[in-house]
Amino acid sequence: MTDLVLSLDVTGRKEALRIAGACAPEIDAIKIGYPLALAAGLGIAGELAELGLPLIADFKVADIPNTNTLICEQVFAAGFSAVIAQGFPGPDSVTACVEAAHAHGGECYVVAEMSHPGALTFFSAGVPERLCEIVAETGADGIIAPATRPERVRALRALIGKKKILSPGIGAQGGDPAEIAPLVDGMIVGRAIYGAADAAAAARAYAPYRR
Ligand code: C5P
Repeated sequence: MTDLVLSLDVTGRKEALRIAGACAPEIDAIKIGYPLALAAGLGIAGELAELGLPLIADFKVADIPNTNTLICEQVFAAGFSAVIAQGFPGPDSVTACVEAAHAHGGECYVVAEMSHPGALTFFSAGVPERLCEIVAETGADGIIAPATRPERVRALRALIGKKKILSPGIGAQGGDPAEIAPLVDGMIVGRAIYGAADAAAAARAYAPYRR
């Protein structure tokens, strides 16, 4: 099963609810992050959760364990079903997110490698591989890996086995859904859907890649 995750990076509450509502039948989950949460307030999570789709908090949580716990408690109290954390602060920081997520019946994903060109400055030379070890050590549910580099997704899949891979970078950043969908559990698509004149139709175009 390859899910289609709408990355809802719009900055207006009404626009977010309109696009999410229109796309809901065509998608499997919604991801929001700082752009929408800062613009509309965290209450938007509760409103989006009413659509009945899993809601992923892309706050790339990256602090000391105690602060990570406090952040994740707010995330899950707001209605999210999953949180995305950075792994570079170390296993104890990731564990804090995993424990908070699991205490609420939710999931925690760790960024293993980012999708933009500059990511290679630090997400290289064995770092993503070490981050996958942290995923295994901490019991995190999966990783975020770049659709812009399918060969890296294949390499990371070999390390994390059956844990989930969610993959951003399809569409606006150049990733090809036909190539990436068979490798991952979720395709994350933002601008190519929410930026289209007909967002629902743009989401529907990914139907052939949702297995
Ligand atoms: O608009 P686009 O499809 O490029 O959106 C991709 C989304 O995934 C954005 O919200 C971006 O912040 C996020 N993301 C990413 N690469 C990562 C992790 C998250 O592009 N490694």
